[in-house]
Amino acid sequence: MNRRRKGMIAVRQLVYCSIALMAGWMSGSLKAQTIIPVVTSNNALVLEAGKNKDLSVIYFGKKLANEKEYQLVSSVYKQTGDYTDVLNAAYTSSGSRNLVEPAISVVHADGNRSLDLRYVKHEQKQLADGITQYSILLKDPVYDFEVTLHYKVYPHQDVIEQWSVIKHREKGNVVLEKFASANLHLKAKGFWLNQYHGDWAKEMQPEESKITHGIKTIDSKLGTRTNIFQPSVFMVSLNKPATEDEGTVLYGSLAYSGNFRTDLELDYQDNLRIISGINNYASAYNLKPGEEFVTPSFIHLLSSKGKGFASRQLHDWARNYRLLDGKGDRLTLLNNWEATYFDFNESKLKELLRDTKKLGVDLFLLDDGWFANKYPRNDDKAGLGDWAENKSKLPNGVASLVKEATANGVKFGIWVEPEMVNPKSELYEKHPDWVVRQPARQEHYFRNQLVLDLSNPVVQDFVFGVVDNLFTKNPDLAYIKWDCNAVIYNAHSAYLGKQQSHFYIEYMRGLYNVLQRLRAKYPKVPMMLCSGGGGRVDYEALKYFTEYWPSDNTDPLERIFIQWEYSYFYPAIASANHVTDWGKQPIKFRTDVAMMGKLGFDIVVSHLNEKDLAFCQNAIKEYNAFRHLVYQGDQYRLSDPRKGSVASMAFLSKDQSEGVLFNYLVNNRYGEGSVYPVQLKGLDPSAMYTLKELSLYPGVKSSIDTSKQYSGEFLMTVGFNPEVSGSRTSVVLKLEKVK
Ligand code: GLA
Repeated sequence: MNRRRKGMIAVRQLVYCSIALMAGWMSGSLKAQTIIPVVTSNNALVLEAGKNKDLSVIYFGKKLANEKEYQLVSSVYKQTGDYTDVLNAAYTSSGSRNLVEPAISVVHADGNRSLDLRYVKHEQKQLADGITQYSILLKDPVYDFEVTLHYKVYPHQDVIEQWSVIKHREKGNVVLEKFASANLHLKAKGFWLNQYHGDWAKEMQPEESKITHGIKTIDSKLGTRTNIFQPSVFMVSLNKPATEDEGTVLYGSLAYSGNFRTDLELDYQDNLRIISGINNYASAYNLKPGEEFVTPSFIHLLSSKGKGFASRQLHDWARNYRLLDGKGDRLTLLNNWEATYFDFNESKLKELLRDTKKLGVDLFLLDDGWFANKYPRNDDKAGLGDWAENKSKLPNGVASLVKEATANGVKFGIWVEPEMVNPKSELYEKHPDWVVRQPARQEHYFRNQLVLDLSNPVVQDFVFGVVDNLFTKNPDLAYIKWDCNAVIYNAHSAYLGKQQSHFYIEYMRGLYNVLQRLRAKYPKVPMMLCSGGGGRVDYEALKYFTEYWPSDNTDPLERIFIQWEYSYFYPAIASANHVTDWGKQPIKFRTDVAMMGKLGFDIVVSHLNEKDLAFCQNAIKEYNAFRHLVYQGDQYRLSDPRKGSVASMAFLSKDQSEGVLFNYLVNNRYGEGSVYPVQLKGLDPSAMYTLKELSLYPGVKSSIDTSKQYSGEFLMTVGFNPEVSGSRTSVVLKLEKVK
């Protein structure tokens, strides 16, 4: 194919032998050495194809002014020798020279298990917004088998998105036994892993430990809601544990909603190899000749300015390039889940619609329990899968509620869980072959339900239809909460026949296919990604969703901690935070915590006393005036709830002219409070600022003196005291630059 037509332009390549640069794919065939610096604003991931054409990672760190010096890096390390020449491979194959954890392992069509991938050529494409995509072709010299490594570089945010495309032209299928997205290699004087674990209502519990020799694996085998026990996001600090503002730290995250696996191997040379991709557990993949196996993306970001800078970079990247409508606005809402659970009818809901207006939020969200007739959805034991309105609860259908909402001047949204089925349902009775189950074994349930087999295209049509029918019947429907409460037990697809090892992968392909179809038809309708709380949130799913539900645990004290940890990886605009009756804190505390993201309520408005209601109404108005800062501003974690009695979080406008600061008491022992000032970050040192307290409970006077002015320097060096105490347990401050 004509090189120009392919749009391949050679922009930068260092070649240390005498051969002219070619336009388009650059071949390494005649060169002794090819160096490919994958460069962001601050960093460089440098690859080298040496004389044997092994593609290696020779440097990953702060970028150097003189690119030629990358070549000198390995010579200044006096670690032990590499017996294989592939210890720092950019994509480690197995069965030939390699002695460590592979990124890929295969069984060729003839039964041979060896693979040796050598550099052939690479290209560099300039995309919009300064984004560059590097693609490097590796081939096995013996077998007609190839892997193309892709590196998409978002220079301004220092984000690198890596994935692989695997292909062959052998005379029969090749079995892929491992097929990672990416393979990194890092050098440092020690590594510290910050990982997360959890369970329902206990999401995102951090754990930091020094990485010891051998392999540490972060993985999930749950099939769906794969993050409930362990999400794929992690951090690795280099040389010493990074803090908020200091140290070198790598953020990693697999953009995939299915089973994932990340191996962190500290090898015998003391270097760290990170291999991330789809979990190969029970998933050997039979790749046909000519078929392309495209892995999900591994997203990573290196910061030499600590965790805070890394997270702000990642937030910017997500809002600009990944999260659906990341640069847009969000709707505040009233949800009826905790207010009614399954116990409601049309007149009760109409009352809640009036309450939605009274409260002053944008939308009413009807939760679980509105559907199914033969086996009515009156609890979580029946009805999932039967998506017709329940006639006794909603005799006039969802349509009449949407109409009523419009008449009240609010929007209407609805809960669905379309991937799931209760055995007690008409769907199960009609299509047992659509259900993920082992026909000869006893069923085992997670929340009394099973998962539908999304590897089957007919089931994909059904799941698409659940949402599509709602929109077709109710064009004014303005919001979807997409839930997914069960994991996969007894993984087996009636549709896949003998190809059962493709099940987990085909399930995810099916899910993404449905989401793509929905987004093609309904590009921007906001959708919340929920999974009994934070069982499913990742940067592939967030291409289709505008927000996620971090946890069913809405106790605000717990939420401070949960939201804090999520905030390292996901921007606040994507965090759906609801004020509920969980926890012992007053409504002000609960509202203040929920305001650090996308605000919603899940309370009985009519049960609020006059003052509580007036407080909420006013807080919503104030939130509407500052929410642009939470959604689009720079987020600074100022005082860590795990390290002291006060938690403090700030959101600042990019131009440093305004901000909002949230402060909470997280320790109720005697005398605890903001004894010391909280140091702000990210301000203009020479500008003068004022601080004013917002979110005041009716009748309460603020102790903050609004007339005082402070320089940015003062606020960042000495700090400001929000006056958090036992009688002021949550304090929201608006910061403004004096004009
Ligand atoms: C899950 C969600 C809740 C609610 C229920 C409904 O648990 O996380 O918010 O929607 O399902 O059954």
